[in-house]
Amino acid sequence: MGLSTREIMDASLDLVGWEDVPADSTIYVPGDGIETALVGIDLESPELRLAASEGYDLALAHHPVGGRARLEFPAVLDRQVTFLTDHGVPEDEAEEAVAELRERTELSAHAANYRHDPSIAELLEQPYMNVHLAPDEVGRRAFVDAAESLDEEATVGDLVERLSTIPELATARTDVEVRVGRTDNAAGEVAIHHAAGTNGGAPVARTYFEHGVDTVIYIHAGGDDPRELREEFGDAKNLVVTGHIASDAIGMNALIDALEERGVDCTPVSGCGIGRES
Ligand SMILES: [Fe+2]
Ligand SMILES: [Fe+2]
Repeated sequence: MGLSTREIMDASLDLVGWEDVPADSTIYVPGDGIETALVGIDLESPELRLAASEGYDLALAHHPVGGRARLEFPAVLDRQVTFLTDHGVPEDEAEEAVAELRERTELSAHAANYRHDPSIAELLEQPYMNVHLAPDEVGRRAFVDAAESLDEEATVGDLVERLSTIPELATARTDVEVRVGRTDNAAGEVAIHHAAGTNGGAPVARTYFEHGVDTVIYIHAGGDDPRELREEFGDAKNLVVTGHIASDAIGMNALIDALEERGVDCTPVSGCGIGRES
């Protein structure tokens, strides 16, 4: 009875029809006979202690914390380049737009304590894994469906409204925000830049805008990026931000549904479960 960690990894891949485990997803401590899981966007050492003391068969996280998923994380940034070239950006310009992010990510992966949380799980003998890119791809596809359901004259406001009907985004305490541009602008050509490790910052959004994209969708945008883009493009181009945890919950909720169907009793915490029917 119950599933193995490998079967649960496969269940995450099945959500999007993938064969290979992405570089940002891994099993830190394998387990089998899993019938109960604590499932969260972020599960680290304190939550592992909780999972162990409460007797959960598995701690299932979204964000990578260590091991291969932390060390090899920069590999998933290749998707940033793919999404840019899908919108007509020449490959060398796409690489240039991602270069700074790649370097920063490689330096931080190399510097990270990739043993911290996995070693605690080992000590507790607590089965522990994370699934990142595949659930994010579920979210990305939900955004693509939302954008494609709009007609050609749709405004940014219409796009925001449509995205906001996705249950996780509708329920979350964060709203879908227009960080650059205006709600009465035409949405025009929309680039959904999600499920690529992280957002592309100002350089990626700028590169889309310079190649005819009118509206970029990120799930989060930090630091000075929106201000930088506003200074360059005024309100002629649009950056829509859907909300980090709400957006991550979309794919994790889909995985919870798939696992529950196979008899794994899931307890969602840390942002998972937002907007999920139960
Ligand atoms: Fe995510
Ligand atoms: Fe995330």
